[in-house]
Amino acid sequence: MSNIVSFDERVKDFKWSLAEQELGYKPGDDINIGWYCSDRICQLGKGNKTALIWEGFGGKEKSYTYDEVRVKSNVIAQFLTGLGIKPGERVCLFLDKIPELYIGLLGILKTGAVGQPLFSAFGDESLLVRLSDAQTTALFTQKKHAPKVRKILDQLPFLKHIIIVDHDPQKALGERELAFAMDEAAAVEHFEAYPTKAETHSLLHYTSGTTGKPKGVKHVHYSLISQYLTSKWVLDLQDDDIYWCTADPGWVTGTSYGIIGPFSLGVTQCVQDKGFSADNWYSFIEKHKITMWYSAPTAIRSLMKAGDEVVKKYDLSSLRHLCSVGEPLNAEAVIWSEKVFGKPFYDTFWQTETGSMMICNYPGMKVKPGSMGKPFPGITGVILDPDTFQPINEEGKIGLIAFKPDWPAMLRTYWNNEEAFKNKFRNGWYLTGDRSTIDRDGYFWFVGRDDDIINTGGHLVSPFEVESALLEHPAVAESAVVSKPDPINMEVVKAFITLKPGYEASKELELEIMNFIRKKLSPLAMPQDVEYVDMLPKTRSGKIMRRLLHAKEWNEEIGDVSSLEND
Ligand code: WT7
Repeated sequence: MSNIVSFDERVKDFKWSLAEQELGYKPGDDINIGWYCSDRICQLGKGNKTALIWEGFGGKEKSYTYDEVRVKSNVIAQFLTGLGIKPGERVCLFLDKIPELYIGLLGILKTGAVGQPLFSAFGDESLLVRLSDAQTTALFTQKKHAPKVRKILDQLPFLKHIIIVDHDPQKALGERELAFAMDEAAAVEHFEAYPTKAETHSLLHYTSGTTGKPKGVKHVHYSLISQYLTSKWVLDLQDDDIYWCTADPGWVTGTSYGIIGPFSLGVTQCVQDKGFSADNWYSFIEKHKITMWYSAPTAIRSLMKAGDEVVKKYDLSSLRHLCSVGEPLNAEAVIWSEKVFGKPFYDTFWQTETGSMMICNYPGMKVKPGSMGKPFPGITGVILDPDTFQPINEEGKIGLIAFKPDWPAMLRTYWNNEEAFKNKFRNGWYLTGDRSTIDRDGYFWFVGRDDDIINTGGHLVSPFEVESALLEHPAVAESAVVSKPDPINMEVVKAFITLKPGYEASKELELEIMNFIRKKLSPLAMPQDVEYVDMLPKTRSGKIMRRLLHAKEWNEEIGDVSSLEND
């Protein structure tokens, strides 16, 4: 039987205190996510249960029990305290999906410091912007990523410690660097977790904005309440499950549901830190007998593309429940999954800002392929008229997805940017920046974003950030970045550029520019297509009209062009 039993019953009289009681928390108590995800599970008698099974490149494998996670996160916490890291300071995890990332986050939280995970494929520019905004004081990384940190070190006066988790003792350490090997360090049986309270800052996740720098999303320890209950009711995690969340903890899915959700429930989870291929993924499910799988539409579409035959090579009968997040999950993908896995993917909708799932499909509830489902119990989700910001009650009408800001995992503010935070509210509603319709049964149907942000393979890319980086290339005079359709990633980045005098358009230059962005920002932000143009469409006030270029790429109506200057 599923944990939620009946969605309709759970909606009636819902209170978050249900989760508080299950976690043994009362308002005013200390609440430390690091402690809840390790020490508490051991106290419940599950110390010998496997917490984490990890598989890396070249067939390397490691596994950790809950007691080992407890002791090793203590080791990390004590090490950080020894370095002088104080509660509230930001500690970055700039790591691949290795055990140090998962256990390290719990260690950071145990000290009362703030965890700041950053995607390890980020280039030096992406890294610099986020580390300087957060004034991060310590950073965990691997030797292969350290050169990117060294490159920007001069611009990071606050960064005191660069902790290399796989340092080669034969080599010299650089400025501010130190070596720390989690698995070789002496056990720390006891570490008193810092007495963080509900509103104590826990995590800082960066998300892209349409204008300006990426925004740091401030989360607090009380988010555990939402993350625990949604993991239980939506992912349906049960004691004997073997769970696989394919997301990287550099993004919020990988922390909320790749660390906090499963560990707070004492579930066994598997992590694969290898490149994607259908064979890799299916053999992983077969080998570990994965029962619950949380993934993303781009991955599902890539598996679809690999075909039905490859599925038949593996025994995937362990799979019990499948969920998806991050971008629109098209009906075809849901139908395909039913055909080949015998189960649909259950779509879930949420954001870095919401910290936990908001609109979902629930076990036992009828899945309408292509719909995101209904708001989680306790969540008031509506669509608003874009002019009046009043809820729309008309079936099929498009509105702005908005929530009453009263759930535990809701962001508390944007770091150093209260103004951007305030700007997310109208009439007391939190605006997601997405558009949707609602059908007569209350199901939400995603329509699109309400801004220029590009969602490529489930990752948000700011056109503004890519445009700014493009301008740093010597050949680029002006640039405009929009999305273009893609069968697998749904959207990919496309750049229109004008060249500076003396530069010739060529294929080589296009590749050079693409590579420049990949290295500076990340592989996700790299334009898949660079188009040379003589001039960019601009408004009379000189603002580039991305809207026109976007419409052209998507074969859409151009709309009002009355403000266009160079028509
Ligand atoms: C944006 C949030 C939190 C998960 C990882 C993404 C889009 C998310 C869905 C879905 C259609 C979706 C929205 C949202 N999105 N889930 N099920 N269907 N779109 O977190 O990076 O903050 O992105 O992703 O546009 O606003 P994020």
